[in-house]
Amino acid sequence: MKHLLYLKDLTQETINQILDTADNFLDHGNQPIGSENLLKDKTIANLFFEPSTRTRSSFQIAARKLGADVINIDEEHSSRAKGETLIDTAMTLNAMHPDLIVIRHQDSGACNLLSQKVNCAVINAGDGRREHPTQALLDSLTILDRKKKIEGLRVAICGDILHSRVARSNIYLLNMLGAEVNIIAPSTLMPKDVEKLGVNKFSDMKKGLKGCDIVMMLRLQNERMNSSFLSSNREYYEYYGLTYDKLSYAKKDALIMHPGPMNRGIEIDTNLADDINKSVIKEQVELGVAVRMACLKLFCK
Ligand code: CP
Repeated sequence: MKHLLYLKDLTQETINQILDTADNFLDHGNQPIGSENLLKDKTIANLFFEPSTRTRSSFQIAARKLGADVINIDEEHSSRAKGETLIDTAMTLNAMHPDLIVIRHQDSGACNLLSQKVNCAVINAGDGRREHPTQALLDSLTILDRKKKIEGLRVAICGDILHSRVARSNIYLLNMLGAEVNIIAPSTLMPKDVEKLGVNKFSDMKKGLKGCDIVMMLRLQNERMNSSFLSSNREYYEYYGLTYDKLSYAKKDALIMHPGPMNRGIEIDTNLADDINKSVIKEQVELGVAVRMACLKLFCK
């Protein structure tokens, strides 16, 4: 497999290889161990057409830990701001012969288009509403680290499912790894025919969280909402924001996850987000570096 575009196109063997490689990059305190010669003389281009803190920084740190050179290009400071098309930007970058391009773009399918125009490997760092594969991979690594398994777990994914590429990648991956997936959202943020993805659908947090081992909250993707999907943030928090009270419907030892960035007090109670006995949100970020190291190692030829 040359590119890492969509998890739904990967085999379980490739997924396991990525997760095992990431795990091998971690020391006993879950800190990534560098290997400076592995990608020596390779050049990674980080091409971000949407804002990012976690994904872009962790790809950058991952590349440096493996000894690669990194260039960062964002929309605001590139010739895209002067009207250059994605294809022309891709062809221009291609002419400089990078070894791998990491791309985030607001249009679903942009990373696939890019992969057809360049000679190097492409990794999807967030593709419209479609997929965010490395986020789901680091989420699974976090679950494996804490629960020692994924098969047989019940995982709730709650919130703005409609616009969430994180939800889609996690649904594919968790299903592949043998988890049962509950989707919880208000009707306006629930995709049509979501059951076809192999999930249980709920509009009620109490029912959807029942017996869950993992509660994965999602960010409200306001930048993708072109009309009014919610009456108010206050009402959303009342029905769908995760609080200690709602968490009590899940298993006693349920873990809380959120891909970030969080809207505190809207998607999740701020104390709960920081509760080290329940929340693994910080660990998700930590393990993100190892997952991106693994992806760079395996896809940068
Ligand atoms: N989870 C995630 O993709 O975060 P960033 O937008 O900060 O990269």
